[in-house]
Amino acid sequence: MAELRTASTAPAAPVAARDRQGRPLRDLRVSVTDRCNFRCVYCMPKEVFGKDYPFLDRGEILTFEEIARMARIFRELGVEKIRLTGGEPLVRRNLEQLIEMLARIPGLDLTLTTNGSLLKRQARALRDAGLKRITVSLDSLDDAVFRRMNDVDFPVARVLEGVEAAAAAGLSPVKINMVVKRGENDASVLPMARHFRGSGHILRYIEYMDVGHTNGWRMEDVVTAREIIEMIGAETPLEPVEPNYTGEVAERWRYRDGSGEIGVIASVTQAFCRDCTRIRLSTEGKLYTCLFATGGHDLRALLRGGASDREITDTVTGIWAKRTDRYSEIRTAQTAKLQKIEMSYIGG
Ligand code: GTP
Ligand code: 5AD
Ligand code: SF4
Ligand code: SF4
Repeated sequence: MAELRTASTAPAAPVAARDRQGRPLRDLRVSVTDRCNFRCVYCMPKEVFGKDYPFLDRGEILTFEEIARMARIFRELGVEKIRLTGGEPLVRRNLEQLIEMLARIPGLDLTLTTNGSLLKRQARALRDAGLKRITVSLDSLDDAVFRRMNDVDFPVARVLEGVEAAAAAGLSPVKINMVVKRGENDASVLPMARHFRGSGHILRYIEYMDVGHTNGWRMEDVVTAREIIEMIGAETPLEPVEPNYTGEVAERWRYRDGSGEIGVIASVTQAFCRDCTRIRLSTEGKLYTCLFATGGHDLRALLRGGASDREITDTVTGIWAKRTDRYSEIRTAQTAKLQKIEMSYIGG
């Protein structure tokens, strides 16, 4: 693509920055809050800090204006997709105002990952503000299992209402993310498949990862994408589908009888670092070039210190140009214990 762009006589589009492995910068994930009303065992387990994680103060977190400015700069650098994450993004007050600001940036695929708990009452406003599609996390249809996974008392039915409200508001497609942890919710794999087959929503199963350093990850707890596809395919035959784009995280499958599509995200057993085009902006404005990074680059100091767009652009390009990350390809039981940044803070 880059060759085509430079050879073209069209007005010069900025040539996408490339990292050390030649990977372009295409996706920006922005964590809009480090807070969450859930305490998923694989993300913010209660045993570690109890209910009180050391959350950031209001003055520390990027304002909507700061995020929108960064988004414009990243768009200029070739970013095509922005995903808002958290923590739980919908707990950030007036989030639709940020969506409105981001929706004004041309050519962006704008989406959001939520736990769905507050979606029912916000779906319409998010859509009206310019959000295009949405991803909802849901780890089981069984209240007891759901509770075991997220450690709060919240009915599955309310998340499902959120999913339907999103679809009714025109957010499309709705994707459902299910992290599968052995012995916890693997019995929910088939019921989830049955529930969402024929709904038009795309269910994706995610291999449990060693993000952060608080979830006590062990390889034995990972249910592999292969196992999941075999389990579902034995009940309802599946066939593979071509990726939507290079570097797509989910491997796509469809039911042979035409009743829908599912995906598996095999970040542990089939790492996809080779095509990883993602960068992450944390709640307090640090830039991380990998989900498993142990350190970030402070952009807030630049934003608040009067730096020009040009200076910020050059800083980001410089950071990306030095990038060598490929954590999932080199993961071992030892690396799993590193002091990596928590996912609730950096954004899934
Ligand atoms: P779309 O294709 O835009 O719909 O989204 P996506 O497939 O990127 O999905 P999403 O952003 O919902 O990511 C799904 C899950 O994949 C995340 O919650 C993570 O568990 C995992 N994931 C996403 N990005 C990365 C990554 O860069 N590295 C690793 N190891 N895992 C990732
Ligand atoms: N492993 C895999 N996915 C995770 N997520 C959070 N923690 C983990 C983990 N340890 C993902 C889930 C959730 C999203 C917000 O982040 O997909 O849906
Ligand atoms: Fe909250 Fe999402 Fe983390 Fe669960 S995975 S604790 S819902 S941020
Ligand atoms: Fe990208 Fe790091 Fe994930 Fe690999 S482990 S896909 S480099 S974010």
